[in-house]
Formats: sequence, structure tokens, C-alpha cells
Amino acid sequence: MDDRNGWNRDAAALTGATHSPPQSFVEQANVSDPGIYEAFAENWPACWERAADLLSWDDEYETVLDETDAPFYRWFPDGRLNAAYNCLDRHLEAGRKNHAAIRWEGKQGERRTYTYRDLYVEVNEFAAALRNLGVEEDDVVTIYLPMIPELPIAMLACARIGAPHSVVFAGLSADALATRMAAADSEYLVTCDGYYRRGDAFNQKSKADNARIGCEQDVRTVVVDRLGDDLPHVLGDDEWDYHELREEFAGETVEPVSRKATDMLFLMYTSGTTGEPKGVVHATGGYLAHVAWTSHAVLDVKPADTYWCAADIGWITGHSYIVYGPLALGTTTVMYEGTPDYPDRDRLWKIVDRNAVDVFYTAPTAIRAFMKWGAEYPGGYDLSSLRLLGTVGEPISPRPWNWYREHVGGGDCPVVDTWWQTETGAVAISTLPGIDEMKPGSAGPALPGIDVEIVDQSGDEVTPGEAGYLTITRPWPGMARTLYDNDERFVAEYWQRFSDPDADEWRYFSGDTARIDDDGYISVLGRVDDVISVSGHRLGTMEIESAIADVDGVAEAAVVGRSSETGDTEIYAYVSTERGRDPNTAVRQAIFENIESSIGPIARPTAVVFTPELPKTRSGKIMRRLLEDVANGEELGDTSALRNPEIVGEIQAEIEDDG
Ligand code: WTA
Repeated sequence: MDDRNGWNRDAAALTGATHSPPQSFVEQANVSDPGIYEAFAENWPACWERAADLLSWDDEYETVLDETDAPFYRWFPDGRLNAAYNCLDRHLEAGRKNHAAIRWEGKQGERRTYTYRDLYVEVNEFAAALRNLGVEEDDVVTIYLPMIPELPIAMLACARIGAPHSVVFAGLSADALATRMAAADSEYLVTCDGYYRRGDAFNQKSKADNARIGCEQDVRTVVVDRLGDDLPHVLGDDEWDYHELREEFAGETVEPVSRKATDMLFLMYTSGTTGEPKGVVHATGGYLAHVAWTSHAVLDVKPADTYWCAADIGWITGHSYIVYGPLALGTTTVMYEGTPDYPDRDRLWKIVDRNAVDVFYTAPTAIRAFMKWGAEYPGGYDLSSLRLLGTVGEPISPRPWNWYREHVGGGDCPVVDTWWQTETGAVAISTLPGIDEMKPGSAGPALPGIDVEIVDQSGDEVTPGEAGYLTITRPWPGMARTLYDNDERFVAEYWQRFSDPDADEWRYFSGDTARIDDDGYISVLGRVDDVISVSGHRLGTMEIESAIADVDGVAEAAVVGRSSETGDTEIYAYVSTERGRDPNTAVRQAIFENIESSIGPIARPTAVVFTPELPKTRSGKIMRRLLEDVANGEELGDTSALRNPEIVGEIQAEIEDDG
């Protein structure tokens, strides 16, 4: 980056002491030969056959990668396969029909187990029903369901008949659903009557109804009855009841449609920097190979495991690591409908204990909440079944990383900090838990076969230890094929900035900033837009946040820039403290001291505003832009995307009190 005078601290400053994976883990790890890095590098792109080999192909591919239409890369282009076949039928054929595929834990304490055979039966019946409603190959089916088993069932039913699904997170509004259905020209919707929110029945169907009114096309809708008598509903025109359809098609099977590896498996809308959401398109072969491979190599998933990714299937993490990755490997995947603190803050640990979960994967925002609630919650349960822990979604600083390893992992579980994006489809940067040293605060090296470079504005590699833009120089199997119906925007958003199309040289830009150390370990600093310029110094908000979060007693921090009367930029820090810790002068003082020692006096905030919680989106990301508007006293836009909109008023009042 262009200006790094004095603020770019010593590379090790915000990463903690390293840990080696315990020998007992290495001995049983799926991948433990350090030679894998070299083997992949020497044999690229053929090395990726190792991932494709985890799948069953209808037609074997002959070409691994076709680069002729870059950046619209085609992985395994002449191969054919079906994703639902890979997640279901082949496990039945291997004699594992009675093995648990999904263990579902409902919000009201309900529990349901689907064996691979159960799942196969229900997916087939629903696939037959969808066909009967008119769904054909390549028709986009929108799915607007909470975390109930019918969600992965509907996804796999679509995959079986070659109809791409577009899952819209259940907490999004009617408008958001309508926009996504319109953009994808989707004429089919699978939704439900409602779901429970902290014990209360919440109406989902009325949102779906409003969205349909906003759509120009006719939409045939299937409604899952989740709430029964708790929320009676009537079906209108073009609406069918899920359970009645199942009865009608009971026992039917549908031949899995053989798809080209490059055919769309699904599309997933993600918010862009500009208004219109981007419909990220994932292909069947490359995507499935990459998620299966990373579930195997990074999450160390084995068929005999009980594996739990505590994310929502409405986002990419759930697609890749609750549904497709684990089911492709034939393991048992836990699916949890509720929140971590309902009915109490021990809910997750209770689930780990009684299911004897082997591998647990969650997000830093959750880990910081666990830390804030206190070690007594995990401490009350037997978590000794856990073998590996993972995190994804945001940078995690050393303190919560160590807390997670200590209090959830019993001090000896390896922790993988996995960097990836909706667009990368699967993990791209992480330590391999059976091989690499872990360095808390750093995600780790790029995975074998993935070429990450941290570059400056002109695309030249920066010196180790300095901040730059996170780019990827060669294609990888899980990468997005394009943006739905918008090839131009795909090129403009991700490729234009650092590529030279005339020379046919392509470099993917992630939109993140990062630092690489001498040892090749990469610390992700934040999004490009999370950079504040103070007196000509560019400061990554994530770095300041990390320095604050390392202070004893602090649970979470968000940092934004504020324009002062003189037009200078000042730093505003919003901080929440751990339970039982007063936000007092001593904490404030410690925050200043830690920022000054780890980054420099230039990064000292003008204000530290204490708040019980930070405003977050439903997917758990801190809404920095909103906090920026609050700091700048600006009119606030729509806060309906927030999980906790009420917190904004409290923060405003706090700032006014401070004067
Ligand atoms: C951020 C989620 C630091 C990053 C899978 C990325 C991370 C964005 C990490 C993608 C990590 C994800 N360390 N930052 N381990 N993992 N991110 O599309 O800014 O919801 O660009 O995909 O999350 O978010 P998305």
C-alpha cells in the first residue's frame, strides 16, 4: 500500500506464540505429509485431480483445466457428474445406508436423525414433486427456509434434477427475496409457514407472499409446515404443501441428471459494494471437488465423524461445509436451528457433549461471544470428543483464538483459521492441521495448489511484513464461474484491477487487505474499504480492532473513521466488554497503551465508546458503515438488515452523553 510510514508494526506483533499440532492428531490426520505443498506446486493443475478423485464421475474428465476463455475458467470441462448422487446414492451403494447423514437439533429442543437412506428417500420424493410442478433442468429454484432439514433436502432435490438452487437467508426481508427472485428470473419458491424465534412463532410465509407480489413472473410455491397449530396458514393459488407432496410422491425415485462439470450447481447472492446484490455462480464439478477436498484436508473430516459447522445454510459457509462437503464425504453433519444463547448460553456445548462431536467449525463473532459469557459454560460439559476446531468469516485475534483452543478445545485441539469467500467457494488459506504450525492471528499459508500474492497498488509483491492487497494469481477449482447473467460485472469486480487482459494475464482480487510474513503465513487485515487515512497514514481498522481486542476484559471492538471539523480523520472505537467487567477508565487506558505499543501513537483513537453490543448483520458481520454514520452524526439509512437494531439508539445516546 502506498503509505506505510511508521504504522506497520513488526510482523509478529499481533500474532501470538505458535503451537504445533499434537502428535496424536498428526498420526490420525487425513493429510500429514509435508511434501504435499511441493507435490502440488510441481504438478499444477494436475494436482487438483486429487480433489476430483474424492468424487464419483459419470464420465471421467480428460482435461483438468481449460483456460482458453479466462477469467471464465472451466475445471474438469469434459467430465460429468451429479452432486446429489455424490452426496447420497454412492454412500448407499457402499453399504452405509444406515449411517447418520444429518443430526438435526431444533430450536424447541426437538431432535431428528436422517440416515443416508432416509435422506435419499426424501430427496427423491421431493425431486419427483418438483419435476411434477414443472421444474426442468437449469430452472432456478429459490429456497427461503430457516435451518430445518427440508432446506438441505430441497437443495439436494434440485441438484438431483439439475435445477440450480438459489438459497436466500430466511432472515432477509421480503424486498431482498423479491430482488433475488427477479434477478434470477426464478419461477419456483420453497418456503415455510414460519419458524420459532426465541420460543415465539414468527411468520415467514407473509414475507414470501409480499415478495411474490413484488415479482413480475408467476411463482409456484411449496410451503413446509414447520409450526403446525402454532401458526395456521391457508394455501392460495399456485401453492402446495410440502408434506402432501411427499405423500403424493411417496417411494418415487428420480434418476440423477448427469451434469457437465461446468454446469451451474447453485447461485448465491452476496452483497456488493454497490446496491445490486451479486449472484455468484458455482459450477458442479470444480466446486464439489474443492469443498470435498478441503473438508478432507483442512477440516480433517472422516466418514465415521460427527462433524458440526455451526453456521447458517443461508450463507456460503453452510452450503460448502454443512451440506456439500461433509455429505460428499459421507460423514454425519450436525445441523442446528437455534442461536447459541437460547434457552441458555450452554446450548452449543450441550449439543457437542451429547452428540460427541469430533470437529467443530464456527465464526470469530461467536467465539468472542463465548469468551464474553465466560468459561463456565463450556466448562460444564464433556467436550473431550473434540479433535479439531475451525473458524471462518473474519480475522480472529490471538486472545479469542487462544481462549477457543483452551476452553473449548481443552488446550490440545488444533485450530484452523480458514480464509475464503462466497466467490472462492471453499477454503483457500489455512494451515493444514496435520502438518503446519499454528500462529494465532494468522490464517496460515495458502493451501497447496493455490497461489496467493500480496501486492501493492501497481500489482507488485510487497515485502513480507507489509500490508497489501490479497490477490490470487492462478485459478482454483471452487472459484465462481461468473456472476449470474452478468459476465461484465464479474470481470469488473474481481479481475480488472490487477489483470492485463491484452497479455492474457489474469489475477483475481479478493477485496481484502493482508500481510504475508517471511514464513509465508498470511494475516488478513480486512476489506479494502476498511482503511482509514489519518494524517496521511493508512490504518487498517482490523489492526486497531485487534489491538483493542487483545486487552484483558474487552470482548469485541469496531473502529471507524470520523471527519473532524478541520476535515482531518479521527479514529472512533466502539468497544464491548466481557461479562462482569466494567467499562472503566482502566480498560480505556489499557486500550490506548496497547494500540500505541502494537501499532503506534498515530492509531490512538479520539474516542472510545463503550456499548453492550456491536450492531451486526444477520450473518454476524459488524456493520462498520453504520457505526461510521453514527460517529459522523449522519442520518442513518435502513437498519432492517441488523440482527440487533435497538443497539444503535443506545450507542447514539452514549456518544451524546460523552459530549
Ligand atoms: C472475511 C465467508 C479473515 C474476508 C466464508 C472475506 C476472513 C469475507 C476470514 C468473505 C478469515 C472470511 N480471516 N477474514 N479466516 N474468512 N473472511 O463471502 O473479508 O461471507 O473477504 O464468505 O470474510 O465473506 P463471505
